[in-house]
Amino acid sequence: MKNKISELLDHVEKFTSEKLEQVEEFRIGMLGKKGEITRLFEQFKAFTSEQKRELGKDLNELKTKTLEKINSFRELLEKSQEKTSGIFDMTMPANSEPVGTRHPISIMKNKTVEIFKRLGYVIAEGPEIEDDRHVFGALNFPPEHPARDMQDTFFIEKNPDILLRTHTSSMQVRAMEQTKPPIRIICPGRVFRNEAISARAHCIFHQIEGLYIDENVSFADLKQTLLYFAREMFGKDTQIRLRPSYFPFTEPSAEMDVSCKICGGKGCNICKGTGWLEIMGCGMVDPNVLESCGIDSEKYTGFAFGMGVERLAMLKWQVRDLRLYFENDIRFLQQFGSVI
Ligand code: DAH
Repeated sequence: MKNKISELLDHVEKFTSEKLEQVEEFRIGMLGKKGEITRLFEQFKAFTSEQKRELGKDLNELKTKTLEKINSFRELLEKSQEKTSGIFDMTMPANSEPVGTRHPISIMKNKTVEIFKRLGYVIAEGPEIEDDRHVFGALNFPPEHPARDMQDTFFIEKNPDILLRTHTSSMQVRAMEQTKPPIRIICPGRVFRNEAISARAHCIFHQIEGLYIDENVSFADLKQTLLYFAREMFGKDTQIRLRPSYFPFTEPSAEMDVSCKICGGKGCNICKGTGWLEIMGCGMVDPNVLESCGIDSEKYTGFAFGMGVERLAMLKWQVRDLRLYFENDIRFLQQFGSVI
């Protein structure tokens, strides 16, 4: 019996099949009423208990291995039959894959960049981890300026010269250092400020900076450029106004408002009753900035402007809480639909 068991074990191990019928034949031959293994079990009954002890384990092992083999082949062959048989209906409509939408910040960024590209601006991008010179020094920030304070700026520990940029104006410096006028760049990017997160403030947000340097660039050019942008972005009947302001890197400096689209300038709670919405800072590049970037301020003039993308999107879609942009709640994100 011992020899027979090992002979059958060998047979089971070598068995392979590509057809379910063959597997069934194999099962009958081994475990059917008159099958080889069934017969061994019959003989086993007549053995002495000593013989049973010796052979029982081997016989059971043979049976288990045979069953395992049969089951694994059945499973394999049934699966491949399903694939090729009529169960798979080729004419059935496919399950559609859900397609995401662009993030509102990306939509606004792309739209803005695209408007300025039409005016001949090219995209310039640069590092988020910057040094003091590019973020403050070359932009005419005096050493004691509050923007350099720890309260606003994330400094890299141990080296106060290395910091996370607080505005994309740092790209003005990089562009002027690297290229000769005429310069016409638009710089979208992430900026960082050490602010408590609330509905109106976040420690990470997005800005778009613009810079135009050439001979004879005037404030009138700045105004016309921004008017074009405002009308392309918010509609043909949009009005703008420039209010005097202060930035260390521009002189004169201004803040630009656009007429409120919600109330048509009459005053509502979005524009806080004024009829105007502030959207960016701008001005003529300060001669000190030109000089510290190696540009002759006698020959060249230029203008710069900078805006917050979250704010633009808030005004466009009346989003009331900045935090929504960063929570990635699909119900919020799906509402903007566009794929610009
Ligand atoms: N960098 C300024 C800020 O973060 C925005 C700004 C104002 C940029 C005036 C400019 C500018 O280029 O001319 O608030």
